[in-house]
Amino acid sequence: MRALQWIGVNHLEVGTVPDPVIEHPQDAIVRVHRTVTCGSDLHLLAGYIPFMRSGDVIGHEFVGEIVELGGEVRRHAVGDRVVVSSFVACGRCWYCAHELYSLCDNANRNPAITENLWGAAPGGCLGYSHAMGGYAGSHAQYVRVPFADVGAFRVPDEVDDARALFASDSAATGWMGAQLGEVGPGTTVAVWGAGAVGQMAAAAADLRGAEHVVVIDRIDDRLDMVRTHVRCETLNDRRDDVGAALLELTAGRGPDVCIEAVGMEASGGPVENVVDRVKHQLRLQTDRPAAVRRAIYHCRKGGTVVVLGVFAALTDAFPLGALMNKGLTLRGAQMHGPRYIPHLLDLMARGDLVTEHLGTHVMPLEEGPEGYAMFKHKRDGCVRAVFLPES
Ligand SMILES: NC(=O)c1ccc[n+]([C@@H]2O[C@H](COP(=O)([O-])OP(=O)(O)OC[C@H]3O[C@@H](n4cnc5c(N)ncnc54)[C@H](O)[C@@H]3O)[C@@H](O)[C@H]2O)c1
Ligand SMILES: [Zn+2]
Ligand SMILES: [Zn+2]
Repeated sequence: MRALQWIGVNHLEVGTVPDPVIEHPQDAIVRVHRTVTCGSDLHLLAGYIPFMRSGDVIGHEFVGEIVELGGEVRRHAVGDRVVVSSFVACGRCWYCAHELYSLCDNANRNPAITENLWGAAPGGCLGYSHAMGGYAGSHAQYVRVPFADVGAFRVPDEVDDARALFASDSAATGWMGAQLGEVGPGTTVAVWGAGAVGQMAAAAADLRGAEHVVVIDRIDDRLDMVRTHVRCETLNDRRDDVGAALLELTAGRGPDVCIEAVGMEASGGPVENVVDRVKHQLRLQTDRPAAVRRAIYHCRKGGTVVVLGVFAALTDAFPLGALMNKGLTLRGAQMHGPRYIPHLLDLMARGDLVTEHLGTHVMPLEEGPEGYAMFKHKRDGCVRAVFLPES
């Protein structure tokens, strides 16, 4: 089959790889209808997650059709149209029983890597390096889905592929951000980052009844897009005084919940940017946390900061003093897909959650490397590039 492969840092190619096969009775093989780029893939592309091997198939957000099932899959039949959680979970361990699916104890086939780095291994993620289980990804004609009864969900007829696609990961991540922040009626939420994840966090905050939602980025197309689809205000931090605007909105207190949806390649202010980038490139720190710093700084006393952006390990200039003295709660996680996907599909079927506009550029899988270049450099208004392996 054809698949988009990571060859080396900033080097992707479409090549021919063996078709996946059922390896375990709880597996399904899915023919991919649509698969989409994610900000997380940019961290792999740039080499900031150093557990890739040349030839690995990337991609973890997709919708498709089941073409083959292992003997123990009960909830699915061949022909089902499904959206699949990017994170793989067994459904049976202590973490899965507590709906902390991305922390599954059985889904990461290489736990030693992250046990050494972090003290314990999270679960696995499709197409997301050997540190996350070494699974082949979804930028391919077919993908093997382990624990299919847990991670794959039938898409209701009312929801087309273009909308369902985002339930895999970005919509679920955004929803988790609002849930970890306990966003509800009366809450003021600020979201850093207007990529698909930040836009979905803003949509989730609005759907959960937040009083004000403010999205902060420096790309006007993205801010215009989120304002078109979500009841929110936006700030361009290159132009606007973000601190003053947030205080104005909250009687001088600051947002109750600050959601960071930018990740380890954040841009900072001029001096911060130089220091962080040099250290990042020399591997003196593994992460550039500019947006986390902002979220902590602007959050109201006693508020909650939620880190949705992906970070690898160590960071400098972390504002621990602000965190401690302002009594903040800091939360974060890889998304617990199976906990949120059924609800998101209901919201999508009712038309309450719209996502298809995020897939700004739709192209054949063969154009994957160009799609990634456009997405990485945010060219031509690209928010996400969607690949069609069947065309
Ligand atoms: N927790 C999870 O399970 C999960 C799931 C999916 C993605 N992610 C992570 O979420 C992050 C965002 O993903 P995405 O697909 O939306 O990425 P993206 O690259 O499309 O968007 C990131 C946005 O952040 C903006 N940005 C950069 N520096 C900023 C700053 N200092 N302040 C405000 N905005 C800034 C960029 O302009 C860009 O619009 C990534 O780190 C990704 O790895 C996490
Ligand atoms: Zn993703
Ligand atoms: Zn589990």
